[in-house]
Amino acid sequence: MTDDIFSPSHAQARDAADPLRNFRDEFLIPRHAGQEQAYFCGNSLGLQPKGARAHVEEVLDKWANEAVEGHFTGQAQWMAYHELVREPLARLVGAQPHEVVAMNSLTANLHLMMISFYQPTIERTAILVEAGAFPSDRYAVESQLHFHGLPSKLTLIEVEPDLPGGIFSMECVARAIEANAKRLCMILWPGVQYRTGQAFDLAEIARLGHAAGAIVGFDLAHGVGNMPLSLHDAGADFAAWCHYKYLNAGPGAVAGCFVHERHATTTRPRLAGWWGNDASVRFRMGPDFQPTPGADGWQLSNPPILGLAPLRASLDQFDRATLPALRTRSIALTGYLEQLIDARLGDVIDIVTPRDPAQRGAQLSLRVKAGRDAGRALFEHLATQGIVGDWREPDVIRISPAPLYNTHADVLRFAQAARDWADGR
Ligand SMILES: Cc1ncc(COP(=O)(O)O)c(C=O)c1O
Repeated sequence: MTDDIFSPSHAQARDAADPLRNFRDEFLIPRHAGQEQAYFCGNSLGLQPKGARAHVEEVLDKWANEAVEGHFTGQAQWMAYHELVREPLARLVGAQPHEVVAMNSLTANLHLMMISFYQPTIERTAILVEAGAFPSDRYAVESQLHFHGLPSKLTLIEVEPDLPGGIFSMECVARAIEANAKRLCMILWPGVQYRTGQAFDLAEIARLGHAAGAIVGFDLAHGVGNMPLSLHDAGADFAAWCHYKYLNAGPGAVAGCFVHERHATTTRPRLAGWWGNDASVRFRMGPDFQPTPGADGWQLSNPPILGLAPLRASLDQFDRATLPALRTRSIALTGYLEQLIDARLGDVIDIVTPRDPAQRGAQLSLRVKAGRDAGRALFEHLATQGIVGDWREPDVIRISPAPLYNTHADVLRFAQAARDWADGR
């Protein structure tokens, strides 16, 4: 392998030596001008695993051939379909199997969790989030406050980052929690912040939040399948996430939810539906709701089987690749991206995401030094070269090498295209 990190043979040699290199062949990679895209948008919508189609077709065939009987026959019977994903999901987020459930969509699950876990008292009404939270989270939190008749101006605490580029030091998070300890009811914090790519120490945030007497929930949209997670040990009260990003389960895929086992038989209020009723008595069709212990007790409806089917293919890949190995590859790919930017694009691009690999996942958030218009121009130039990242207002290009399918060659292609663009200006 040549030491010239800008040479194609360097990138190729690193890819060839990678134990996970064959996983790329399990994906359908969109093409651009006769070649595969360099697709860095797995933090928005992950690519389609080739195995997804067979799982979807299995459901369609079962429906065609068995109709209602499909609920009760075979290993993939629809009555227990969500059980097929329970254990792999639990492994992925570091939970006990009964602490996780695949259901609904992310924002819907955040609401279901907050209905139960945001229970303001006279002394404790405040919800603490990061300033610049993903809009859906902010809308959800604010609407929960309004739902309880509370003015969000007084009860929504939005912690401002203390470091350049919108990054938080842990001291800043700790100070905000401690300063509001007496009035805090709940903290909702991201596993990985969507705009900056910063990853947080969730165990520490849960510890600080609990010490302040608050409930602690996490939005893991950008964390799941990206970072190693240990939700049970971290002690989070709840968490919710989607499966269409690093989990590659398809647009609008059924989402995931975690409820810590200490709340398995909680008497907190919840929004109920028949699928949350204890499975052993569900079909007695009685009038009284007896929640299933654990996360399953928050289910409302029988799950959309077609929406769950691709997740089986995806989780099978995660089980085979294993998260620790994926994380090793992810650190290498993202580190290579950082190295190339520092070596050849330092005059053009600032990296917003923390430099410490422990404080980031796959994504690097990039800001073009010459400002927003130049950033947009680079983003559009990349698209004309088949290099797909995404743009987050006001001025961030997000590039996320996904370790299941991106390669060092993809990363090099990005860096070369960005350099060509800068040289041509
Ligand atoms: C951090 C975060 N929260 C919430 C959402 C909203 O997800 P959904 O539309 O699946 O509810 C997203 C979507 O990308 C997200 O990135």
